[in-house]
Amino acid sequence: MMDIFSAMEQRKSARAYLDNPVTRQDIEEIFKYAGLAPSAINLQPWEFIVTYGEEKDRLVRRLLKAHAERSVPCGPGTAKPLPKKYAKRSMDALTVMETPVSRLGMTFNRFIEEGSCSFYGAPIAIIVAIDKIFPAIRYLDAGLAVSYLLLAAHAKGLATCPIGLITAYTPEIADVLGIPEEKEIILGIALGYADENSPANAFKTDREKTEEILSWYE
Ligand SMILES: Cc1cc2nc3c(=O)[nH]c(=O)nc-3n(C[C@H](O)[C@H](O)[C@H](O)COP(=O)(O)O)c2cc1C
Repeated sequence: MMDIFSAMEQRKSARAYLDNPVTRQDIEEIFKYAGLAPSAINLQPWEFIVTYGEEKDRLVRRLLKAHAERSVPCGPGTAKPLPKKYAKRSMDALTVMETPVSRLGMTFNRFIEEGSCSFYGAPIAIIVAIDKIFPAIRYLDAGLAVSYLLLAAHAKGLATCPIGLITAYTPEIADVLGIPEEKEIILGIALGYADENSPANAFKTDREKTEEILSWYE
C-alpha cells in the first residue's frame, strides 16, 4: 500500500487520459476515503455528483457550447490584479506547462479552457457541490474532502484534475444534470487513468519553499 507521503509527493494534475474505464468499486472506494475528511462539527457539507458515459458526454457538450458562447478565461478569480508574489507563482506554472503543451498544436489558453470544459477527456467527471445554506467558509471543509479524494485516487493508480473553470458555467451544469437551485457548484474534478505519454502530462509544477509559507511566532 502506498504511504501518505509518497502519495502527496507524487500526485499531480493530469490533463490527458486513457479511455480505460474506472470500475465502480474503485470510484466508490475513493469517495469512501474522501468522506473521511474532517469538517466543522462533523457537518460533512460536501456533495459529489459522478457522471460517466452518455451523461458525462452530454455535460461536456453543454460546457463546450457554453464556453463557445461566453468564453470565460481561466483566471485567479480576484477582482484586483494579483500581487507580485502570486503573479510570479502563476507565471512559473505557465512556464513549466507552455513548452510541452505547445507540442499539442493548440494555444495554451485553448488547451486549458476547452480541456477544462471537457474534463480533459477523462472517463469520469465529478461535480462538487455544497448547500447554499452554508457560508463560504464551509467551502474549506469541502476542499478538505477534495484533497482526500485526490490523494485516494492517486493511491489507487488513478489520476485527477480539479477544474474550477467550469463553475463559470454553473447554470448550464445545473440544467443538464438537474442540480437544484439550493446547491452551489464549487468545483469539477476529472478522474481516470492518466495518459503518461501525452505532452499534456509531461511536466510537474514546483512549490514554494516551506519557509515562504510559514511564520514562526516565538
Ligand atoms: C480549486 C482548483 C481549481 C482548479 N481549476 C483548474 C482548471 O479549471 N483547469 C485546470 O486545467 N486546472 C485547474 N486546477 C489545477 C491546478 O492548475 C493545479 O492544481 C496546480 O497548477 C498545481 O499543480 P498540480 O495539481 O499538478 O500539483 C485547479 C486546482 C484547484 C485546486
